[in-house]
Amino acid sequence: MKVAILGMGTVGSGVMEVIRMNRQEIERQIGASFSISHVLVRDKYKERGVELRGVTITDAIDEIHAADIDVVVEVMGGMASTRDMLLEFLEKGVHVISANKDMLAEHIDELAEAANRNGAMLMYEASVAGGIPIINGISQGLNANRIQEVMGILNGTTNYILTKMTGEGWDYEKALDAAKEKGYAEADPTNDVAGFDAQRKIVLLSRLAYNRKVDIGKVRAQGIDSVELKDIEAGRSAGLTMKLIGRSTFHDDRLSIEVAPVFLPDDHQLSTVSNEKNAVYISGNAVGETMFYGPGAGGRETASAVVSDLISCLRRMECVERNIVPAHEAVITEDASPKR
Ligand code: NAP
Ligand code: HSE
Repeated sequence: MKVAILGMGTVGSGVMEVIRMNRQEIERQIGASFSISHVLVRDKYKERGVELRGVTITDAIDEIHAADIDVVVEVMGGMASTRDMLLEFLEKGVHVISANKDMLAEHIDELAEAANRNGAMLMYEASVAGGIPIINGISQGLNANRIQEVMGILNGTTNYILTKMTGEGWDYEKALDAAKEKGYAEADPTNDVAGFDAQRKIVLLSRLAYNRKVDIGKVRAQGIDSVELKDIEAGRSAGLTMKLIGRSTFHDDRLSIEVAPVFLPDDHQLSTVSNEKNAVYISGNAVGETMFYGPGAGGRETASAVVSDLISCLRRMECVERNIVPAHEAVITEDASPKR
């Protein structure tokens, strides 16, 4: 099975690294071997700092179309042109995995329809909350529920900035520079700090949670770009911690969604979520309240979610090929019992 990766920056390199670290375990789950045959980048001569021996590095998408690829992993970002590129693959029945919440929040409905029409899979676990398996959590773990509320910290960069301003008295610019250096921020961090990244993520979660198309143009978002150290310090002296919160509720067929900075009591669970970590509460009418917590950004952390999608996709392909039903419970092949 042949895979192409579109983009080889923070997340793309993380994907290569996770595959290198865990290839044996990954292929055991798939039941077959696979290769990363092509990588698409803008500058094919740039040093990537990851092992890419045997991989064709190209800046021409046509080369990937000509290569009879089974799965395309999109970790390059971009809006309309990326949508067009992915639609073209889906129309050909090529499976697509994407981490691109900016594009998905606007175009997921048409991409999902193209995928269904052509018997292709569209997977996007990494697009929300980095390494936290929240998309699968909602679509597979909580699907017995009517979900009533989704609420939490959905952007790693702003949570990192607020943590450093609150705990260490850093000013806004210093904290933003550090978030960029750590690979949490987007290439243009405006979307992070202005609240648009969290807006896109709460839109994707709400669409899935309530099974409703969501018009992102109608979702109000406020970021932390005008927050000053003195605002945070005023909150601190009153026992409050500032967090950027995305929240949506669905009651009586009415959807309400918003992103805004909020002061929470210091002893609120979300107040203790620090640095680039994300945390999301989801309330369902059967399960009650659940909370998901983990790394919301970062190359290897986000790659954990991308590669998880890749495993599921390739495993389903392998099961179809061999005409077998995918087993839910893996058969244990190693004996790790304590030795006498
Ligand atoms: P990045 O470090 O800026 O890497 C982007 C890569 O895509 C680069 O290798 C770039 O090539 C390539 N690229 C961009 N536009 C291209 C085009 N038009 N044609 C060909 N190649 C192109 O970005 P990233 O942080 O890895 O993020 C990638 C995606 O994952 C984005 O959608 C982002 O929102 C999403 N995401 C990121 C994180 C995170 O923590 N960073 C977490 C979750 C989701 P060159 O290197 O040659 O310029
Ligand atoms: N820039 C994003 C963030 C990356 O900081 O949360 C993960 O989507």
